Amino acid sequence: MTRIVGIAASPRHGNTEILVKEALRAAQELSETIAVELVTFAGKRIEPCTDCGACVRNKTYCWKQDDWWELIKPLVEPVPAGVIIGTPVYFFSTPSLLRAYFERCTCLFKQLWHADFPFSPPDWTRTAAGTVAVGFHRHGGVEHALSSVHHVLLTNGFVCVGGDYIGGGAWQLEEDSLDAVLKDRIGIAAARLVGERVGTTALLLQGGRPSAKG
Ligand SMILES: Cc1cc2nc3c(=O)[nH]c(=O)nc-3n(C[C@H](O)[C@H](O)[C@H](O)COP(=O)(O)O)c2cc1C
Repeated sequence: MTRIVGIAASPRHGNTEILVKEALRAAQELSETIAVELVTFAGKRIEPCTDCGACVRNKTYCWKQDDWWELIKPLVEPVPAGVIIGTPVYFFSTPSLLRAYFERCTCLFKQLWHADFPFSPPDWTRTAAGTVAVGFHRHGGVEHALSSVHHVLLTNGFVCVGGDYIGGGAWQLEEDSLDAVLKDRIGIAAARLVGERVGTTALLLQGGRPSAKG
């Protein structure tokens, strides 16, 4: 199966989750061989990286006792064929929760700088990645949030795909509810396009994966 993981990086079950589910649904509709999973940050606690160095000293992944490992595991064990990151817009960018989630990934890569670190970095170079985002206002920073996530994905080797421009940008039409994004017809279509692009690229990348013998 071609596994695609959707990450809804909002602290609540709301508009971001709806958008990610739409994108996942569009990916799944491409092929019966695509299996989708949703990971949500709602109710979860993620501490930021404090550069304490405990991972290197103790030769472990990050020791902090919160929900980060549970939330990152679907992107690591095993590495998926595709990922769709969904974020709400906070102050023209992404929420601190999502930044913290990404920052903590630094412990996954410690072998690059410390040869005796026991875990190899995840190989995300054959994982298709797309982004969806939702804000309250039409021009509240959704494109900046999308591009901020893309920068992190590119930094970590993912194969980034766009959709409508660089991702699935949506807004709440200034209606204060958990599902207002459903009324944003253009935003929902943009999220679905991201799902299709991630699904198509994931299938292509899987097809091109060299066999064990190379
Ligand atoms: C702390 C905070 C900052 C926000 N900043 C912005 C912003 O800069 N631009 C914007 O359009 N919406 C902003 N919003 C609104 C959210 O982006 C919007 O309500 C989003 O749909 C929430 O997604 P959710 O329903 O999945 O939680 C902010 C919300 C919060 C809580």
